[in-house]
Amino acid sequence: KSFLYRLWKGNVSSKMLNPRLQKAMKDYLTTNKHRVRFRGKRNSKLTREQLLCELRDRVTVKTLDGKEAPFSDLGWEKHVPQAPLSKLYPQGLGSCAVVMSAGAILNSSLGEEIDSHDAVLRFNSAPTHGYERDVGNKTTMRIINSQILTNPNHHFIDSSLYKDVILVAWDPAPYSANLHMWYKKPDYNLFTPYIQHRRKNPNQPFYILHPKFIWQLWDIIQENTKEKIQPNPPSSGFIGILIMMSLCREVHVYEYIPSVRQTDLCHYHELYYDAACTLGAYHPLLYEKLLVQRMNQGIRDDLYRKGKVILPGFRAISC
Ligand code: C5P
Repeated sequence: KSFLYRLWKGNVSSKMLNPRLQKAMKDYLTTNKHRVRFRGKRNSKLTREQLLCELRDRVTVKTLDGKEAPFSDLGWEKHVPQAPLSKLYPQGLGSCAVVMSAGAILNSSLGEEIDSHDAVLRFNSAPTHGYERDVGNKTTMRIINSQILTNPNHHFIDSSLYKDVILVAWDPAPYSANLHMWYKKPDYNLFTPYIQHRRKNPNQPFYILHPKFIWQLWDIIQENTKEKIQPNPPSSGFIGILIMMSLCREVHVYEYIPSVRQTDLCHYHELYYDAACTLGAYHPLLYEKLLVQRMNQGIRDDLYRKGKVILPGFRAISC
């Protein structure tokens, strides 16, 4: 059976990846850049329902509120948006789309379906212009990593990609989530451009994710995986899925678990080929996908043909 078929069935391990990816994974385990010290147990065999309840009960979307040092001493309380992300939609959102940037979404004709959702989440610099037929053109929220804010090539200040949408930024912090250490030595210094942007655009909702939230997600992936996962933060895609599960009644995720269009083309908007984009090297992406696959309540045909997974929002499950 092919790797893709086994992935759809949730029946793959890292041993089936190509040697280069396996080597990269091993190296990340050895380096342990973020000083992860996992204290839990691996391989807990939760059912779909138990897994959803576990996520609902343990995951709280947390953004920097400026009340903790060192941010409190720097006057961040008056810089961050007044309403935290979790309170931005008091009534909650209905049906939401999470659009992954995978090359496999090309030629999908999913644009109309994606735009029919109440809210659409996209990632980093993924464009809609020129790709409307396959990815739609509605964007409600964008999750951006710290490189987007700091790398001049992305034109964070001027690009229309980052205007008129809710922005949620993140940067890998130490596993301890020590904010002092993180502030002194972020992966990419997103703090300065964040404050500059807040000053210039005080009415645009723009948040930085709290490292506690990110590592909470990592713990849950590891607890539910037999193998040792990469000691690095989950991908933006997984982070985005969980944010939308906390905000929406139902979440439709596109081209996270690859469809029949699976390809090594990393992004739909870039001519760059690397299997690591879909299966992970730095991020524990393969394990994230296996976890999401276990929670899928959509039909098989949607998975195969659209690369679509349907997940209930936390509001819609009873535990
Ligand atoms: O590459 P980037 O992080 O901007 O892509 C957004 C998200 O889409 C990733 O974090 C990952 O979860 C997902 N993705 C994927 N397969 C790809 C490219 C991206 O699953 N080939």
